[in-house]
Amino acid sequence: MTRRHLAVARHFVWTLALTLSLACLATARGAETLTATGSIRGDQPGGQISRHLYGHFAEHLGRCIYDGIWVGDDSDIPNTRGIRNDIVEALRAIDIPNLRWPGGCYADNYHWRDGIGPRDQRPKTINTFWGDVIDTNAFGTHEFLDLCELIGAEPYIAGNVGSGTPQEMRDWIEYMTFDGDSTLANLRRENGREEPWKIPYFGVGNENWGCGGNMRPEYYADLYRRYASYCNNYSGNRLRRVACGPGGEDTNWTRVVMERAGNRMQALSQHYYTLAAPWSDKRPATGFDEEAWFAILRDCLKMEDRIAETEAIMNELDPRGRVKLYVDEWGTWYRGEPGSNPAFLYQQNSLRDALVAALTFHVFHEHTDRVKMANIAQTVNVLQAMILTEGERMVLTPTYHVFEMYKVHHDSTRLPVELESPEYAHDGEGIPAVSVSASRKGQVVHVSLANTHATNDVSVSLTLPGVDASSVTGRVLTADELDAHNTFDQPEQVQPAEFSGAKLADDKLEVKLPPRSVVVLELK
Ligand code: AHR
Repeated sequence: MTRRHLAVARHFVWTLALTLSLACLATARGAETLTATGSIRGDQPGGQISRHLYGHFAEHLGRCIYDGIWVGDDSDIPNTRGIRNDIVEALRAIDIPNLRWPGGCYADNYHWRDGIGPRDQRPKTINTFWGDVIDTNAFGTHEFLDLCELIGAEPYIAGNVGSGTPQEMRDWIEYMTFDGDSTLANLRRENGREEPWKIPYFGVGNENWGCGGNMRPEYYADLYRRYASYCNNYSGNRLRRVACGPGGEDTNWTRVVMERAGNRMQALSQHYYTLAAPWSDKRPATGFDEEAWFAILRDCLKMEDRIAETEAIMNELDPRGRVKLYVDEWGTWYRGEPGSNPAFLYQQNSLRDALVAALTFHVFHEHTDRVKMANIAQTVNVLQAMILTEGERMVLTPTYHVFEMYKVHHDSTRLPVELESPEYAHDGEGIPAVSVSASRKGQVVHVSLANTHATNDVSVSLTLPGVDASSVTGRVLTADELDAHNTFDQPEQVQPAEFSGAKLADDKLEVKLPPRSVVVLELK
């Protein structure tokens, strides 16, 4: 080879290397265009998206209630009868439809009489599930139901089967809901509440296969029948009795409980958490790479399988669909923040959690016939929280913003979506890059879209049979970093912003979805 040949060859190799590296860089920056196509079937409305799918859960755990929602009426932090005003305002703004309390695992350790009467005389008890901390019981039945009234949420109370008695459960219901002249109703009046409360949802135990008594399904089914017999309807209150359903993939639990007690319940619960890791070695909430982004989104989509398994058994044993399914605990579960008490389950919340929320809601929307309620774990300072607090400071998380953006779907009519999504492939695995859900309320159609891809735009093109619209507006939630999150010093890192990437053209909705984004559109 001559010197000239060598120079040409060197030049060729150099040019090739440059081209390849530019291509890699371009791909890393999201230059590859992916395309999704499909239809929003405005001509085939299907099912109602219950607002109760957007429910919440507040447990006596870590800093959710104490040092979170509840600061006490002698606190310098502005409050109403001990409940933080800024939290009330933030929760009102997302129209929380229902709130589940007092647990979780705490529920089967909770004795309601500890939490009524003058606060300075209430017993101090040990929260054995969550770090053996002392519970002053300052936050009890009256305080919880006051909170529900302040935020406009319907109460969902979890009763104690594991360490309580049927009498204790029946007495609590009478205390809260009886309008007549009984000793328990009069005790409620002495404690400051004349009118009975309406309690629409009552859980008969929680995770009784685990922290709620380590029961076998046969035993729980029998106990359920016994306890539920004393969950009475007083003074026009109508309780929906909720039986403990499966956690994880325990379909045998579902089958046995449905077979033996299905005719005595109004709903069955189900729990599913996203960890993408062993329980003993959870992932951090922030400071992660694309592998962790992908793994969490991949695993949150398994909610579809968990619901489908339960639904299949319910469809077989309750073909008329009388018993509803409540996914009354869901969300991400990471390693506690450094320096926090590991038993307090305090974790940051990033853009990734916002994607988890959006994808999970889309799964729920696909199951509107059976799934009528869901409760994210948990409202404040615990797991996939809406709100984090530090002293008097408060921060709204990316997950909060998804709840706010998705309010438009509450009690709307679902419009089926047919979608061909490109794959978001990572390390030999793939998930759909795009997820879309749509609903109609009055004349307005709302479309929510999520792009799971860490680096790529997706062009989405949707035909709109049966949708009469001439304008589209929208908002987007996204950020530059996969783990972008809001802190007390920088509370507005992840915020919804106006979105101009959607247009209506030739009877189609065309959307340019940025990478790692959640978009909600309004078509009129
Ligand atoms: O949400 C935290 C805990 O997770 C709940 O107390 C329990 O029900 C579940 O295992």
